[in-house]
Amino acid sequence: MDNHCRVIAHSNIALIKYWGKRDSLLNLPAVGSISVTLDTLFTDTSVRFEPGRPADSVQLNNLQADEPERLRVSRFLDRIRLIYKEITGQILPGAEVITANNFPTAAGLASSASAFAALAYAGLKAAGLDLALREVSILARQGSGSAARSLFGGFVEMHRGQLPDGSDAFAEQILTETALNINVLILVTSRQKKKTGSTEGMNLTRDTSPYYQAWSDSAEADLAAMRQALQDADFTRIGHLAEFSCLKMHALAMSANPGIIYWSPATLHLLQQVREIRASGIEAYFTIDAGPQVKILCREKDAPALLQIFQNDSAVEEIIITRPGPGVRIVEP
Ligand code: DP6
Repeated sequence: MDNHCRVIAHSNIALIKYWGKRDSLLNLPAVGSISVTLDTLFTDTSVRFEPGRPADSVQLNNLQADEPERLRVSRFLDRIRLIYKEITGQILPGAEVITANNFPTAAGLASSASAFAALAYAGLKAAGLDLALREVSILARQGSGSAARSLFGGFVEMHRGQLPDGSDAFAEQILTETALNINVLILVTSRQKKKTGSTEGMNLTRDTSPYYQAWSDSAEADLAAMRQALQDADFTRIGHLAEFSCLKMHALAMSANPGIIYWSPATLHLLQQVREIRASGIEAYFTIDAGPQVKILCREKDAPALLQIFQNDSAVEEIIITRPGPGVRIVEP
């Protein structure tokens, strides 16, 4: 058994949002989603299964992970141990996991997406298991829904699926990373950890929001419209649909009880700025995940002008310029 593997997986941002679960145990999404993988943000993860090691050890961003973090990783590795046992009939030992993000963790920059994509891929390879990427995405989904999408480059769809065992809830690429000349500017407004994690937020929303059914019922139409817009390379349509899905998801979260508000005053200010800039003729669209950061979609040619505007905005702490990025890949030790 080749017991070590190190990989890089990139983060992604959803253009059509995932919010809500149809099954918590298998982490099955209540709705499908469409995302773009981002080239600049990634997680670098190495997994080594060591004979004789009783428990998994986890190093996160150069520090020993705290116990809840270690447990989340260890439980995920247990899923790989289960697959390994089913296939080989043997037991996988404990693992040493060394992982680092090149961006702020848990601040709404989707660290769990790249983290579980990298862990799924590195873990399976380290165990000597060669699964198709679709199967890897089914595994990654069980760590974090958005992670299933991060295995693929470019524009990616996660399928909701219908089956109770989740075998049809997988991700796949719709368009490659070179298909559209767009940039995603990430406007970092805060580096603090978010207060309500996505999982907790989704569960509260499902249990309390009067709008939850309408959200689920209207998802397929948004997905179909985005698929078409991507096939047509219609940037204007892509942008409008992304803003619509973003606001719909946040309105849904706000309609939970108690309402979940991920935005800060800086977030709202930036949304208004984007719309003003658009009215002035530069086509820019916003999207936001479960945190206060604002991501702007634009054509490549417009990125320098937007950069200049937002560099001078006091609501912005940092700007990260990204473009559609590649899928998961093995790196040399
Ligand atoms: C707002 O994938 O982090 O970013 O499956 O519970 O780990 P879990 O949730 P997660 O949720 C992502 C929510 C979102 C929208 C999206 O990425 O589609």
